[in-house]
Amino acid sequence: MPSTLTPLLECRACPRLAAFLDDCRRERPGYHARPVEPFGDPKATLLIVGLAPGYHGANRSGRPFTGDYAGVLLYSTLHRFGFASRPQSVSADDGLQLIDCRITNAVKCVPPENKPETGEIRTCNRFLASELAASPEARIILALGLVAHNAVLQGLTLQRSTCKFAHGARHVLPDGRILHDSYHCSRYNTQTRRLTEPAFHAVFEAIRADLKTKFQWRLTSASSALSAAAVTKN
Ligand code: URA
Repeated sequence: MPSTLTPLLECRACPRLAAFLDDCRRERPGYHARPVEPFGDPKATLLIVGLAPGYHGANRSGRPFTGDYAGVLLYSTLHRFGFASRPQSVSADDGLQLIDCRITNAVKCVPPENKPETGEIRTCNRFLASELAASPEARIILALGLVAHNAVLQGLTLQRSTCKFAHGARHVLPDGRILHDSYHCSRYNTQTRRLTEPAFHAVFEAIRADLKTKFQWRLTSASSALSAAAVTKN
């Protein structure tokens, strides 16, 4: 079993997922077909945690939520709330920038039928745990779905009983970080209207309110955020 220090791209800790990726690399030479790394600023205040790469999405493009339906509502919402420079994420080299935001997944390899097994979620948590430990600046975490919610708790070594997943729930964690929950923005959830655009936007309104009141976040649009970021870096 690889140690927690195994580089993500070389990880083969889950035999079923590693074999699935091997098959994918053979059958789809143009696909990324590796574990998918987080995307965005490692020092971002907002960390978004999804489930796992989609076969024709992140597993193809190499960027979370990019290339399949799951990213459509996510990136348009990130742009609307000032967290992305553009409303669409097309490919890993399209120049899109996230603003004070980072996106990662609970499970880094695409699982067959989009369903990671319990043991795979547990095994992969070493990566999310080290991302959380390495980014104390991530004061606000958005979990997209129950699996992501539980993975965040495991990554922070918190008991599941400390907070229950519910769409729109907001949990203040023992270290002061705030965990927001949303239904996952999957095609299934949006097409069945389990998750509507207004309900997803409401979660981001709550996140933005936290950023403004707790973290003095005053940026209102992607363009002002981008120019502010440029000024800060110069
Ligand atoms: N793509 C991802 O990267 N994560 C998800 O949870 C769904 C699609």
